[in-house]
Amino acid sequence: MTTSSAPGKVYLFGEHAVVYGEPAVPCAIERRARVTAERRDDERVRVQANDLTLDGFAVTWGGETGTRPDVDVPRPLVEAATGYIDGAIEQALDAAGEPAAGFDVTVESDIPLGAGLGSSAAVVVAGIDAATRELGVELSSESLADRAYQVEHDVQDGQASRADTFCSAMGGAVRVRGDDCRRIEDVPTLPFVVGYDGNTGDTGELVAGVRKLKDTYGFAADTIGSIGDLVRTGELALRDGDIEELGRLMDFNHGLLSAVGVSSRSLDTMVWAAREAGALGAKLTGAGGGGCIVALDRTEQTHTALEYTPGCEDAFRAELDGEGVRPE
Ligand code: PMV
Repeated sequence: MTTSSAPGKVYLFGEHAVVYGEPAVPCAIERRARVTAERRDDERVRVQANDLTLDGFAVTWGGETGTRPDVDVPRPLVEAATGYIDGAIEQALDAAGEPAAGFDVTVESDIPLGAGLGSSAAVVVAGIDAATRELGVELSSESLADRAYQVEHDVQDGQASRADTFCSAMGGAVRVRGDDCRRIEDVPTLPFVVGYDGNTGDTGELVAGVRKLKDTYGFAADTIGSIGDLVRTGELALRDGDIEELGRLMDFNHGLLSAVGVSSRSLDTMVWAAREAGALGAKLTGAGGGGCIVALDRTEQTHTALEYTPGCEDAFRAELDGEGVRPE
């Protein structure tokens, strides 16, 4: 039996624009998905999922990859448990050079699902690591990131960037631009506070909406370019440890994301609650439409304000997690 864990992430800057080749800076946070893989003596896969915000459940399917169990739970949860785990196991078999193997897989996660915190990437990264170790093979973090990206790419119909999977595998703050992914060293302490509205945005739909705007209006395309410029400015602020400037740029980034239609009333409400509480900056994180905002605040004020904000279901501090995937 082998267990691995991998962190979720927030986007400091750059979601959506990263889809069009602009840079983005996701940061791993101390909220993890833990995946346990235990080899079975048949070729079936049994997945038990706990703590995934929604009620836990268990499914068994198997033999051939591509088949899906018929269970009555919301689609994102089934995909998290089957599509992503199926893909992770396929990658592990490929890495270990094994034609087939069955596993009992347990997923435990304290990352809200589909909320812009990279829950699926963390499950895939930890899943590949646990299953390959269970087969006696150890992969580098880079190779895990690459294989996890292939899985996300397939499950999300080619819409995914490398941001979530690379960040989850490597930990820390990272810079992603197309296929060029690297860790950013010596980042200052980033006092993240996360607010979660309990909703899920449909990433595919949101990405398609931005693409349509971008293809229709030159100024929407310019907005995407402006997000790229903002990220480049943010990288300098990160290098200089200028947290105040990072906050200002987060505010600006949220405005640009709102302009391309991916914010929502509850995300805006949480962003304004954070700003009014004295946060250095606040923005939505991830695909948007609902889910999470991230703010920067060294004090407890934003956390407290979010706890009392109508529509904010959960608020928590989230330290930068310098460690990516790891055996447990
Ligand atoms: O909501 P998340 O964490 O899956 O982030 C989506 C970020 C996008 O830039 C909109 C898409 C992507 O794959 O980068």
